[in-house]
Amino acid sequence: MYRLISKHGRARRGEFKTVHGTIQTPVFMNVGTAAAIKGALDTFDLKDIGCQVELSNTYHLHLRPGDEVIRDMGGLHKFMNWDRPILTDSGGFQVFSLAKLRNIKEEGVYFSSHIDGHKIFMGPEESMRIQSNLASTIAMAFDECVENPCERQYAQDSADMTVRWLKRCKDELARLNSLDNTINKNQMLFGINQGSTYRDIRIEHMKQIVDLDLNGYAIGGLAVGESTEDMYNIIEAVEPYMPEDKPRYLMGVGTPINIIEAVYRGVDFFDCVMPSRNARHGTIFTSEGILNIRNAKYERDDRPVDPNCGCHTCRNFSRAYFRHLFKANEMLAMRLAVIHNLYFYNNLMAEIRSALDNGKFSEYRQSKLGVLDRHI
Ligand code: GUN
Ligand code: ZN
Repeated sequence: MYRLISKHGRARRGEFKTVHGTIQTPVFMNVGTAAAIKGALDTFDLKDIGCQVELSNTYHLHLRPGDEVIRDMGGLHKFMNWDRPILTDSGGFQVFSLAKLRNIKEEGVYFSSHIDGHKIFMGPEESMRIQSNLASTIAMAFDECVENPCERQYAQDSADMTVRWLKRCKDELARLNSLDNTINKNQMLFGINQGSTYRDIRIEHMKQIVDLDLNGYAIGGLAVGESTEDMYNIIEAVEPYMPEDKPRYLMGVGTPINIIEAVYRGVDFFDCVMPSRNARHGTIFTSEGILNIRNAKYERDDRPVDPNCGCHTCRNFSRAYFRHLFKANEMLAMRLAVIHNLYFYNNLMAEIRSALDNGKFSEYRQSKLGVLDRHI
């Protein structure tokens, strides 16, 4: 159940009650694709960095170790020892971005595994069964995510099919939730808005998915090739059609500034691989801008990577040491970098929430524009 605590323009401060605890929003969900956070972080580390929600992927866990293994081990929460909410992405996006030789049909998608090439079929029902076995808190609908730019007719047909798939997802999840041996009988379903960059297709699609009365609504198919302007325009176009009393999730976005701008436009939930992926390349988000820790200028720098950060890395290690670990290709370099970047994102969300609580979000946004996205 989503409760709107306060509103500032379109920006929302809220909370979302789940069987695995209450999520304070706006929130960033930390990506642990295959039930592990890249950079060798475990679920205790996730608690230390202030993570509220962990995100895993249907596609990866279905291939390895298999969703039935996880079901037999008591579900994903027990498997990875995490008691807070988990959101699972449906496989739609990963099938389109990772799988080889895919063939999209009304019934679902035929594709080859990116691990060993074996043939797999996944449709709305399969995705729901897998997510039910994983027993996540929130299941995502099985959708088609098209790349931008995309032909108008293709975008229209795809959006129409995604609505038909969504109805099948809803029916199948209701059935699964009513079975005696289902681990999480309260599993929730979020629908996903598609329609490429066509405002009218997006709006019509949003109206149709809102009619299905789901637990929350995501905006998908963004940050997949269109400009940042187009992305903001699409959010502005569909947001007025999203119910006030349900959470809104912008999938796979983005930079700290993208997140602030999307909160400003009424979004509550985010996820992105950017903090962990960038960390692995030594690209570090700080309160002053973005830096690369491999830079020679940090060779004898004894300050923490971000003097304003309270993370484990910044509380304990210097830039000089951190740089050395990267140059020496030590595994520890990645771990410390991922800890910092994820802390940075979770802390950004905490700052956004407190700015909203204090009626200062507008000032907060202005103070960050041009700062968080500059390279230092
Ligand atoms: N992750 C980022 N974008 C998308 C999307 O459009 N659909 C799904 N299922 N996952 C995503
Ligand atoms: Zn830090």
